Amino acid sequence: MVKSNYKPQEYWTKRGSVYDEEWRKSSLFGIVSNLVKYPQSYAQARSVVSEIKLTKPKKVLECGCGTGRILKMLENNGFELYGVDFSKTMLATARRKISPKTVLVQADYTKKIPFPNNSFDTVYTCASLLHVPTKSIRGACKEIKRVSRKYIVLSEWVGDTTAMHCFNHDYEKLFSDCELVSKKRIPLIPDKFTFVFKKRK
Ligand SMILES: C[S@@+](CC[C@H](N)C(=O)[O-])C[C@H]1O[C@@H](n2cnc3c(N)ncnc32)[C@H](O)[C@@H]1O
Repeated sequence: MVKSNYKPQEYWTKRGSVYDEEWRKSSLFGIVSNLVKYPQSYAQARSVVSEIKLTKPKKVLECGCGTGRILKMLENNGFELYGVDFSKTMLATARRKISPKTVLVQADYTKKIPFPNNSFDTVYTCASLLHVPTKSIRGACKEIKRVSRKYIVLSEWVGDTTAMHCFNHDYEKLFSDCELVSKKRIPLIPDKFTFVFKKRK
């Protein structure tokens, strides 16, 4: 399937009903799956969570929260947690898994994140911006910067692919109006990084 046939919201709504199942299938428990079958993905989750904690936020937003894997890991830190995703099936799974205190909103973050400017201390993504087509990436970054008061944490893949739902973006360029606080390679994965940007005053 070629990239021009990729309809992002449709694709993720379809995939949402089987997403967690795909992860669980080949192991007995999700945690074993994360540690044994998907060590890279677990390493990425650990990386983004530790960078978010370093930003010492009160209010945190995940763009492209999916089934709530990272939001769940952030619970019990005293953060006010919010997640945005345009897939209602991914959000439905997240709602069953995570704390009822976490606010989930269905929205396309490349168009409009339904919160006022500077609403969150830290806005983050994990394995989501790589699924935003080239034509929509600027809109996504603009919205992420608009709703962040201070920090933006991006844990994303930067390699080239032929997969129809994956796109390569230059995050340092897209966030060049922010200060690059850190860029860490995720262990076990050569082309995934966690970037931390700070908004300039
Ligand atoms: C690979 S999943 C990652 C989910 C989660 N961040 C994690 O690490 O487990 C990518 C998610 O990004 C969401 N997504 C992609 N493009 C989006 C957009 N433009 N607006 C909102 N959500 C989007 C998809 O629906 C999907 O849930």
